[in-house]
Amino acid sequence: MKTVVIHGQNHKGSSYHLGEIVAQHIAAPEEITEIFLPRDLNHFCLGCYQCLQAEEKCPFYEEKKVIMDAVKEADVLVFTTPTYCMRASASMKAFIDLTFVNWMPHRPQPSMFNKKAVVISTAAGAGAKSAIKDITTCLSYWGVSYIKTLGASVAATNWNEIAPKTKEKITKKAEKIAAQVCTQKVRVNLKTRFIFQLMKLSGNDSSKMGTVLQTDYLYWKENGWFNGKKPY
Ligand SMILES: Cc1cc2nc3c(=O)[nH]c(=O)nc-3n(C[C@H](O)[C@H](O)[C@H](O)COP(=O)(O)O)c2cc1C
Repeated sequence: MKTVVIHGQNHKGSSYHLGEIVAQHIAAPEEITEIFLPRDLNHFCLGCYQCLQAEEKCPFYEEKKVIMDAVKEADVLVFTTPTYCMRASASMKAFIDLTFVNWMPHRPQPSMFNKKAVVISTAAGAGAKSAIKDITTCLSYWGVSYIKTLGASVAATNWNEIAPKTKEKITKKAEKIAAQVCTQKVRVNLKTRFIFQLMKLSGNDSSKMGTVLQTDYLYWKENGWFNGKKPY
């Protein structure tokens, strides 16, 4: 299965290693694409809203396109982030912000609805759950239903420092998730269906629309989503 691993850090610590274990159990090396943030997209959203008019107008479009093209092609998306101050890393959050045009209120990519995703975060102590939530929220709004998570409290600042028992336990968890990803089917869940229907209802009311949202409206219309067609 084609797999894209998006690391919310440049370094190869605990979160990276768990991501590698998952990816290598899912895909052959030639099927894996790795993205490192900020190395591959070192920008923050400027709030210019140019992307809402046309995606190519984003000042960081070229770099973002390389990542989003890989994401579009992939069957499985693996996200890793260290827990930083109880949340995902700033680089991961910056990436999420830069994809907001692909959230369901705007222009979701139809391919997202069939993808599987795994989200991994390690913390020294607490906070992995909320770091993971930052990413799963984004995935849900991209239209991804199938999401597995692996949060681990590792009492360490890097992979080599983790106690052998803890390492064995989290490695097994990562392998189990990979096995599930390989065998389970994608089912579009109620949450995805609900968000899609809600966006359809609000988007269809063109009288409430500012010009900046016209492109979104036309995108939904061209996809036939106001007329009963669905991306799933
Ligand atoms: C800036 C920063 C903030 C951190 N915040 C937290 C935190 O909120 N909770 C926690 O348990 N550990 C925190 N840590 C520790 C890391 O989350 C922990 O060492 C993690 O396993 C590192 O993952 P990595 O090896 O993938 O970099 C923080 C570390 C840094 C550098």
